Amino acid sequence: MTYDERLQHVSVLGAAGKMGSGILLLTAVEMADLSLKPENKGKTFVLHAIDVSDEALAGVMKYLRSQVLKIAEKKVVALRDFYAGHQNLIENGEIIEQYLFDVLSLVRTSTRIESAYRSTLVFEAIREDPQLKVEIFSQINTHNEKKPWFFTNTSSIPISDLDTGAKLEGRILGFHFYNPPAIQKLVEVIKAEKTLPEVEAFGLLYAKNLRKVVAPSHDIAGFIGNGHFMRDILHAASEVSELSQTMTEAEAVFIVNKISQEALIRPMGIFQLIDYVGVDVCSYILSVMDSFSKKEKLHSPLLDRFLQAGIKGGQFSDGSQKDGILKYEKGRPVAIFDLKLQKYIPVAELSEKAEKFLGVMPAAPSWKSMVSNPDREPVFVEYFGLLKQTESPGAKLALDYFRRSRDIGKQLVDEGVAYCEKDVNTVLRTGFFHAYGPINDYV
Ligand SMILES: NC(=O)c1ccc[n+]([C@@H]2O[C@H](COP(=O)([O-])OP(=O)(O)OC[C@H]3O[C@@H](n4cnc5c(N)ncnc54)[C@H](O)[C@@H]3O)[C@@H](O)[C@H]2O)c1
Repeated sequence: MTYDERLQHVSVLGAAGKMGSGILLLTAVEMADLSLKPENKGKTFVLHAIDVSDEALAGVMKYLRSQVLKIAEKKVVALRDFYAGHQNLIENGEIIEQYLFDVLSLVRTSTRIESAYRSTLVFEAIREDPQLKVEIFSQINTHNEKKPWFFTNTSSIPISDLDTGAKLEGRILGFHFYNPPAIQKLVEVIKAEKTLPEVEAFGLLYAKNLRKVVAPSHDIAGFIGNGHFMRDILHAASEVSELSQTMTEAEAVFIVNKISQEALIRPMGIFQLIDYVGVDVCSYILSVMDSFSKKEKLHSPLLDRFLQAGIKGGQFSDGSQKDGILKYEKGRPVAIFDLKLQKYIPVAELSEKAEKFLGVMPAAPSWKSMVSNPDREPVFVEYFGLLKQTESPGAKLALDYFRRSRDIGKQLVDEGVAYCEKDVNTVLRTGFFHAYGPINDYV
């Protein structure tokens, strides 16, 4: 079966979710582009958008329409070539309308898993539940005579476990999009022990056609991205517990969040990132990773306590940030939740004390000025050099954080999660928008 044939009959499971809706969009556009190739004229392309709720699926179709319209407007010149033989398509508006029609008419929404029984390729983005994923894969695999290939978006479950559990005989690949899939450039590709070479080769070609950056990861729970992120969380939590011996927990969270953002030149502080992903999601990913971890305890009592206090974070359906460990106004943090007092403490009340505690700190370049700056390397060497020479509690905290992040990166290579240091740096640079990879020799 060729690449184009494989993409003629596809299903996306969890299509109304955060990740599924993005995967649906990318796949619908790729399939429509294939269907417009002269050699595919007259062939049928079908994409089933499967989820449990009709209402949510209706919302996804609206999202799809608005996004495809934007895509069509951007590539109208290329579309003119696609539609060159159509004499009734002259104006840009007519071409855009036709493309919108062609993309949307491939998509069939469904609340029935049976819709996937004739697909040759199944993308899966349902919730992170190993048992549910295995059950659904088994059901489709048993009833689908086409021996479909399964691309799972799992963040943490070993792909080999899903393969064995659902008896897929290697017709599975970890294809870990980052959130949101339509915008984020990174995809972690994870081969299970038995993944067939043709399944991997197709995945790599599909990623290339979507213009994604691929970071391969070994099949170890959490892979590279969460392998680093989750351990980074545990380090932050242990710093908070240490600091809270001499200050309130809200102060400690504020300080660690500030250091991890400003002094480490990251786009957001660690607790803001936890809110972005969701406290519950982070806690759940940790528990899945922990269940596969032999040497290390991967669990955060601090996250448990936030969850017990009803603090969850995450996002509203329009993508705006919900309150979590931090409280937000117009997307900016304005307060920190204090677990003892069970209320948010305004940042204005915390910052003066934090400055006093941190002491002298070298001026850090802003993340924004560095992230795509081609001349950033010497700036980092100078800045981190200065940080090393600074003797203040703030500088020590920042250096410990920086070194721990590097050690985590190296651990991922040593323990065989990442193939090489470069892949760790690619994941953190591309998937987490860090201005530099954690494995470096700045200090
Ligand atoms: N959110 C992220 O940042 C992120 C990033 C990378 C990977 N992931 C992974 O992607 C997957 C989905 O995560 P999400 O954040 O999009 O979750 P989500 O809760 O937003 O979406 C899951 C969707 O699956 C649907 N669903 C649940 N059970 C179903 C079933 N039996 N059949 C069909 N649909 C069903 C739900 O209705 C929901 O629409 C998880 O495995 C997660 O670990 C998430």
